[in-house]
Amino acid sequence: MNLFSENKSEQAIYLVYEGDKNDNRIPYLNEIGTKKLKGDGDFRSKECIELLKQADIVVTNPPFSLFREYVAQLIEYDKKFVIVGHQNAISYKEIFKLIKENKLWLGYGFKGGAGHFINQHYEDYATATDRKEGMIRVSGVHWFTNLEINKRHEDLILYKTYNEEEYPKYDNYDAIEVSKTKDIPADYTGAMGVPITFLDKYNPEQFEIISSNDIRINENIPFKEHGLIKDKDGTINGKPTYVRIVIKNKRL
Ligand SMILES: C[S@@+](CC[C@H](N)C(=O)[O-])C[C@H]1O[C@@H](n2cnc3c(N)ncnc32)[C@H](O)[C@@H]1O
Repeated sequence: MNLFSENKSEQAIYLVYEGDKNDNRIPYLNEIGTKKLKGDGDFRSKECIELLKQADIVVTNPPFSLFREYVAQLIEYDKKFVIVGHQNAISYKEIFKLIKENKLWLGYGFKGGAGHFINQHYEDYATATDRKEGMIRVSGVHWFTNLEINKRHEDLILYKTYNEEEYPKYDNYDAIEVSKTKDIPADYTGAMGVPITFLDKYNPEQFEIISSNDIRINENIPFKEHGLIKDKDGTINGKPTYVRIVIKNKRL
């Protein structure tokens, strides 16, 4: 039985675990039923969708290349989920839209945005450094979830005050640049561009995420489907910045 095949087999299997039977609280092979699927186990196939419909919570590590499609399916079937995804997925327009609408957020775990996975076959799927026998480190990964968690209700403690020198404005957007999440000024009422890593600390009661399209001050700047400050349009005095999420403090 190979759980890490590359999805090339004609017929896949699925496992059924219905709880502990021998009172040792560890799922053992003889407590896990192996059943055959008719097809190759593609999550988009009819029989896999039937299994999905039975799920209360989906916990998995979907292929990064199909992340958009995988999330779209979970949302379509109104599932609770905790799944692993790459940090880059945050700026996909489909994913960022869900984050903005508070339908998806970042969960706990993966300290420093790095996951350590124990499996010799993983090198096929992930960019990895620090490989040791049977272990790889995948950087820039997060848990993406729609389960209620405490982190989402905890305020970020803000200690800085706004001043023009430290927080310059973008050339094309009416927002100030905050290059580190911890430096968000406590007293700024307008729009602020913050790093993607802000999302790890995002409490929707404290901040709202707004679209960069709403704060454009240069009409030559094209409308952005994702609503982030990004690429050559996100300059400050002609100098590009990194990708920025635009937020406003809701408590002011
Ligand atoms: C990153 S691995 C995760 C493996 C395992 N679920 C885990 O969490 O350890 C992604 C897995 O998705 C499988 N996969 C790729 N395309 C798929 C598809 N269309 N439908 C279902 N599984 C797919 C790959 O074969 C691979 O095993």
